[in-house]
Amino acid sequence: MSASLTARGLVKSFKSGKNRVEVLKGVDFSAQHGDVTMVMGPSGSGKSTLIATLSGLLRPDAGEVTALDTRLWTLSPGRIDRFRLDHCGFIFQGFNLFSALTALQQVSTVLKYKGLSPSAARERAALALHEVGLGHRLHQRPSELSGGEKQRVAIARALAKDPALLFADEPTSALDGENGQVVIRLLQRAAKAHGAAVVCVTHDPRLEAYADRVIHIEDGRILAEPPAPHAPAPAGPRPRRSRLFSRRLDVRCCRSCAVAGFRSRWCWSWPAWGSAG
Ligand SMILES: Nc1ncnc2c1ncn2[C@@H]1O[C@H](COP(=O)(O)OP(=O)(O)OP(=O)(O)O)[C@@H](O)[C@H]1O
Ligand SMILES: [Mg+2]
Repeated sequence: MSASLTARGLVKSFKSGKNRVEVLKGVDFSAQHGDVTMVMGPSGSGKSTLIATLSGLLRPDAGEVTALDTRLWTLSPGRIDRFRLDHCGFIFQGFNLFSALTALQQVSTVLKYKGLSPSAARERAALALHEVGLGHRLHQRPSELSGGEKQRVAIARALAKDPALLFADEPTSALDGENGQVVIRLLQRAAKAHGAAVVCVTHDPRLEAYADRVIHIEDGRILAEPPAPHAPAPAGPRPRRSRLFSRRLDVRCCRSCAVAGFRSRWCWSWPAWGSAG
C-alpha cells in the first residue's frame, strides 16, 4: 500500500542566541491511510517540530515531505495553506482556540471555510461537539471552559473536517481517563472508518495500546523501528502489554532496541518476545 505521508531527510534547526540548535537531524517518516501512527519520545526530542514540518506548518531546512502524492514544500505558501484547509486536521498541544468564539463557532468556522453552507456547518459542528461529550457546552467561549473541555473542542474541530491527514499533538494531555478513552476511540475511528492517516504525538501509555505503529524519536532522530508486537486488531484496543512495560524510563533498553524502558523480556529485540506477549 502506498503511504499517504512520507518524509525523507528532514532537517530543522532554530537559532538560540548566537547558536543554532539542530532539532531534526535527517528524519525519515511514513504513515499510511487507515493507521494510527504514534510518535513517542522525551520532552524536547523534536516531536512537535516533526509534526509541524510534516503538516505544512513549518518549512524544514532540508528534506522533503510527500503528502497525498503532493510534494508539500514545493508548493507556494498560499497553496500549502489551501492543502492544509482541504486535507489536514490539527489537534495542537496548546489547543489554538479563538478567544472570541463559542465552541460551536470554533468548529463551524473552519467548515464554512471549507465551503459548507452556514446551516450545514453548524449542524456538523454540533454533531462533532456532541461526539466529544460537549453537547451541553456549544455556546461557551474558551474562558468559560476547563482545560479538558478546550482540548475536546480542538479535537471536535479537527475531526469535523473528516481530514485525510490528522495530526494530533498530545491530544489527551488535559483529559481524565474517561474522556481520554472517548478521544482515543475517535482517533481510531478517523483512521479505521474514514481512512485517515492519523499521526499522534503522545506520552500517554493509554494511547500506545491503540496504535498500529509506534515510532520513537530521540534527540531529533528516529530510533530503529521495532517489529509490530501484535497483528492489528480489527476493532477495539489491543490488550495492554504489561504494567512493567508502560512504566518506562527515558533511557534506551539496549543498543538495538527502540524501546525506552527496562532490559527485560519486554524488550523488542529479546528472543523470547514472540512468546512473551
Ligand atoms: N521556534 C523555536 N525557536 C527556538 N527553539 C525551538 C523552537 N521550537 C522548538 N524549539 C526547540 O526545539 C526543541 C524541540 O522542540 P519540540 O517542541 O519539537 O519538542 P517536543 O518533543 O515536542 O517536546 P514536548 O514533549 O515537551 O512537547 C526544544 O529544545 C525546543 O526548545
Ligand atoms: Mg511538543
